[in-house]
Amino acid sequence: MNPMNNLSTLLGGLSVHDFLRDYWQKKPLLIRAALPDFSGLLTPKQAIELACTEDVQARLVIQRDGGFELEQSPFKARDFKGLSKTHWSVLVQGLNHHLSTATELLKQFDFIPHARLDDLMVSYAPKGGGVGPHFDAYDVFLLQGMGHRRWQISTQADHTLIEGAPLRILKNFKIEQEWVLGPGDMLYLPPHCAHNGIAEDECMTYSIGFRTPAYQELAEQFLVYLQDRICVEGMYADPELKTQVHPSEISKDMLNQVASTINQVRWDKEDIANFLGCYLSEPKPHIFFDAPEEVLSLKKFKKSLQEKQLVLDLKSQMLCHEHTIYMNGEATDSALPDYNLLRELADNRQLNSLKSPSDELVALFYEWYQEGYLSLC
Ligand code: SIN
Ligand code: CO
Repeated sequence: MNPMNNLSTLLGGLSVHDFLRDYWQKKPLLIRAALPDFSGLLTPKQAIELACTEDVQARLVIQRDGGFELEQSPFKARDFKGLSKTHWSVLVQGLNHHLSTATELLKQFDFIPHARLDDLMVSYAPKGGGVGPHFDAYDVFLLQGMGHRRWQISTQADHTLIEGAPLRILKNFKIEQEWVLGPGDMLYLPPHCAHNGIAEDECMTYSIGFRTPAYQELAEQFLVYLQDRICVEGMYADPELKTQVHPSEISKDMLNQVASTINQVRWDKEDIANFLGCYLSEPKPHIFFDAPEEVLSLKKFKKSLQEKQLVLDLKSQMLCHEHTIYMNGEATDSALPDYNLLRELADNRQLNSLKSPSDELVALFYEWYQEGYLSLC
C-alpha cells in the first residue's frame, strides 16, 4: 500500500466536508496517525545536501545563549560541520520543487485548491532544535516524519514580537496545549495560531503550507498588473488656458481634466480573475526552469505526445479559471478549444498519451516543453 494514500486517516476520521466546516481557518486539530506508515521523504543527510544545493531556499536557526541566530542559504557542507549536537534546526523550502515524492504527498491535500498552496517545507533538528514560538500567516499541516517533536500552541491574541531578534519570536508565549508528535502524526494550525516546535530527539517535520495573502499585497499587485495593461488614449491639452494669479498653483481645470481621465480606468471580474491566475501561478523569484538538453523537433514531439505521458515539471504551477489557463504566471488564449484537457493536466499534473491532439494543443505543449515547464516520459 502506498503509505501516502490514506484519505480515511488523514483528517482523523473526519470527512473533508466536516474538517472544512469545523476546523479549516477556525481552530487547531491534532490528528494521530494521519499517515500511519509515514516516516519521511528524505534522510537528515539528504535534507542538509538539499540545503546546500543552488537555487534551494533554506535557513539555519541556531539557539545560543538563550537567543536565536539565523543564517540563510546558500550553504556549504562545512556550515553544518561545526554545529553542536543539540539546539539547532535547518529548514528547507519548496521540497515539492525538488522531490517527486513531495509532489505526491501534496496530492493528499488536493481538497484545498491549488491557488492556496504555498509549498512543502521540511525541517531537520537534533534534540532541542526549533525556531522558537511564533505565528504564521498561513494555514499549515505539520506532519511529523522521523523522530518526535513537541508542539506547544496558543490561540493568544498578543502577537507582540521580540524586538531586534533575527526571527519573528513571540515576546509573551502562553502555552495552552501541547503534544508530542511521532512519525505520521499531524497538527493542523489556522493562520495566526501561535506555536512552538521543539525536537524531542533527532526529528524531521514536513510543513504543508497554504498562503493567505494580505489584501494590501493583492491590491498592490493588482495595480502592478494593471499598469502593464491599461491603455488611456490622448494627452493633456489646455487650448482654453486662462491666466492665473499664482503660477505655482495646480488649477481646478487641470485637476478636473486629469481626474476625469483617470476615472476612465476600469476593470472587471475578468481582469481580476486574470490577475489572480497570473499572480498566484507566478514562480517565486529564485525559481528557474531548465530547457530540455536535446530539444525534439515539433514532429517528433507530436509523435511522443501520442505515445507517452505528459508530466508537469515539479516547479510548474498551473491554475485555471473558466476558459483560461495560467501557466507559471502567464495566461493562455481563452479561446483554446481543449480547456477540459488542460484543466485535467492542471488538476493532476500529468496527462496520459493523447491519441489525436489538436494542432493548437500540440503547439502550446511544445512551447511549454521548450521552456522546461513540462516533459514527456
Ligand atoms: C519547524 O518545522 O521547525 C517549523 C515549522 C513551523 O513552525 O512553521
Ligand atoms: Co510556524
